[in-house]
Amino acid sequence: MRFLTLLSTVAAAATFGFAAAQEAARFGSVSVSPCPFTGGQDVTITYNATTAASAGHQPEFVDFFIQGTFADTGNPTPQILLQRNDFGADQVILTSDITIPEAINNLGASNWNVLASITFEQDGLNLTGGIFSSC
Ligand SMILES: *[C@@H]1O[C@H](CO)[C@@H](O)[C@H](O)[C@H]1NC(C)=O
Ligand SMILES: *[C@@H]1O[C@H](CO)[C@@H](O)[C@H](O)[C@H]1NC(C)=O
Repeated sequence: MRFLTLLSTVAAAATFGFAAAQEAARFGSVSVSPCPFTGGQDVTITYNATTAASAGHQPEFVDFFIQGTFADTGNPTPQILLQRNDFGADQVILTSDITIPEAINNLGASNWNVLASITFEQDGLNLTGGIFSSC
């Protein structure tokens, strides 16, 4: 029941489909407000580790990136690091007020989204996985 709810929420919110729903189930969720945003804007980014923790992927670190789409080629831009964060063993929510760098307005790109990349320990290894926001 809970899985179906998550799946339909993600499917309704975005064009990502099943793969994104799987990522959300494993790596948590991230949202950004306002959305969409451009360079120079103040935004609030919220990462929620609930589903990641349930899957045994409690983050040690949560890194926020942004990624857009180049207007001329339609290719994705590089991932631009905004902020690295430690994440507590019992922490669930991370909220961060960030000013988006003005310089992204010079890249000829739009459709910016936030990527939360998490690092977690499993089987004695440090693994990473990521989840995108969607407007
Ligand atoms: C975090 O995500 C869980 C699972 O989707 C949800 O039940 C909970 O309300 C969320 N917490 C916040 C503060 O958004
Ligand atoms: C995982 O990362 C943490 C923090 O950097 C480090 O202390 C630990 O040794 C790493 N574990 C492995 C297996 O690399």
